[in-house]
Amino acid sequence: MNKNLWIIANFKSRKNIQEVLNWIGEVGPKLIKKDNLKIAVCPSYSCLSEAKKAIQVGNFPLLLGSQNLSNFPAGAYTGEEPAEALKEFVDLSIIGHSERRQNFKETNEQIAQKIHLANQSGIEPLLCIQGEDTLIPDVVKLVAYEPVFAIGTGTPDTPENANKVALSVKQKHSANLEVLYGGSVDEKNVKSFINQENINGILVGNASLDPLSFLNIINNCLS
Ligand code: PGA
Repeated sequence: MNKNLWIIANFKSRKNIQEVLNWIGEVGPKLIKKDNLKIAVCPSYSCLSEAKKAIQVGNFPLLLGSQNLSNFPAGAYTGEEPAEALKEFVDLSIIGHSERRQNFKETNEQIAQKIHLANQSGIEPLLCIQGEDTLIPDVVKLVAYEPVFAIGTGTPDTPENANKVALSVKQKHSANLEVLYGGSVDEKNVKSFINQENINGILVGNASLDPLSFLNIINNCLS
């Protein structure tokens, strides 16, 4: 394996601390350390501290990510989660997920600010793009192409189209950009996505919640 393979679990607002710890307890010991294999889990904010401890104690090759971060620095912004605080726990942060753009009316300006603050704090921003025209700030190195029609619907994009979009954004932005695919990825279809030349991994929602299903996704990627 010479290019990176990213396999990222996005729990959304779904698991409490105990459920996240159970998941890490089941998945962590089965993970194999491999160069270029980057497996990450993104639970909700309240679970990050305990998740980090469990990963460290088990010495698992598992990265930790948040699903968002504040577009403001630390300060008088009640209820916000700044990158400066999150950097203690996370390696990466999902930014600009379509659920945030739709439900919380996130703008490209706010998203650019989040990316800037993530970078400043040493957190790798994983920018979700909904199509080839989504704005990608220059500093971004990792994106996930997640067409809205495919998220949580059981109807993924075709691997061929996902590959076409990935190639197009690499041509427009940078050949070094890593592009993941997300949207109804499961253990059956995962291989067809990661086999595409321009796809560097996957972002998985529903099929990541069950530890066994997530482990099958990893195994199917590696077999
Ligand atoms: P899904 O979600 O795998 O449940 O479609 C993916 C995502 O929203 O990141």
